[in-house]
Amino acid sequence: MKVLITGGAGFIGSHLAEYHLAKGDTVTAVDDLSTGSKDVFKGFKPDRFTFVEGDILTWKDLDREVKRADRIYHMAAVVGIVRVLREPVEVTRVNVLGTERLLESVVRSHHLPELVIASSSSVYGHTKQELLGEESEFIFRPEQGGLTGYAISKLTNEIQAMAYRHIHGLPITIPRLFNAVGPRQSGNYGFVLPRFIKQALSGIPLTVYGDGTQTRSFCDVRDTVRALALLAENPKAWGQPVNVGNAREITILDLARLVIERSGSSSPIEFITYARGYGSEFRQTTQRRPSIERLQELTDFRHSWSLEQTIDDLIRRNSDRIVPQGRLL
Ligand SMILES: NC(=O)c1ccc[n+]([C@@H]2O[C@H](COP(=O)([O-])OP(=O)(O)OC[C@H]3O[C@@H](n4cnc5c(N)ncnc54)[C@H](O)[C@@H]3O)[C@@H](O)[C@H]2O)c1
Repeated sequence: MKVLITGGAGFIGSHLAEYHLAKGDTVTAVDDLSTGSKDVFKGFKPDRFTFVEGDILTWKDLDREVKRADRIYHMAAVVGIVRVLREPVEVTRVNVLGTERLLESVVRSHHLPELVIASSSSVYGHTKQELLGEESEFIFRPEQGGLTGYAISKLTNEIQAMAYRHIHGLPITIPRLFNAVGPRQSGNYGFVLPRFIKQALSGIPLTVYGDGTQTRSFCDVRDTVRALALLAENPKAWGQPVNVGNAREITILDLARLVIERSGSSSPIEFITYARGYGSEFRQTTQRRPSIERLQELTDFRHSWSLEQTIDDLIRRNSDRIVPQGRLL
């Protein structure tokens, strides 16, 4: 199978590449390297793998590569709270117009590659519902700033995908991704676990925003990519949003404690106000827990990684790369 991955030098994109290369597939990854890095391809053999530096909005070979692909994962997006707050115009430009350009190219190609358009748990917005099913309500409070622009861009991606499925019959999967974690995730754009690992291994305080009672549900990225592949190959999954994540829930304070315990670190925990981190307007969502019933009805997906196993793996991979004061070698 020939696989095209946009945002292929990013966190999830690089794991998708690794997953398909291990299956014997041929992979082309395109990325503008705005947050991604070619370092993620270390160890990839070049015989079935090609990387192209390109912007999804302007990449001139898009039509040619779309025509060749049997499956396309569209992961390119402006992601991560730090970048989303700093570059709100880019969020709409890249996330919405980039997706539209890709979908138009697929229609022009007169061929039907399986398409995976990444959505996000952020589409549930500020809802207070505890367990989020695909039919749960969305509540957006734009006056609270923060991730609303990103959330709406991802909801727009779902609507674009459903429209192209309806009008052009494209075989599109729409995963709503919930907090993937694992190797190669960068802590530079607001993701919590890589930051905690780095802080614990460097012996500096683990910084918890707010009082740490907000919860999240983390899914190992290797489970995430397997779920995406299973959904993409199942026609019954096409054309509808499907939660992809792990229903196990943990408070951010307990996550910090777990990282300290498993790394044997002597780091203390330091609480930081959201206002100091992200400005006074910012309101954090208190909970994001997916129901994965639909995913399990559509596929035989089961998780193979527990949170503890992921944390241990990250500690093992990073312990020789960190020097005191949190600098990564
Ligand atoms: N990581 C998660 O837990 C999570 C949760 C919900 C949704 N998602 C979605 O999954 C996808 C992948 O996220 P990720 O965590 O791997 O983020 P990431 O930032 O690691 O990957 C995104 C990649 O897209 C690239 N990119 C950005 N703009 C581009 C452009 N104009 N042209 C080409 N490439 C561009 C970046 O350089 C980066 O490598 C995104 O669409 C994101 O919205 C991820």
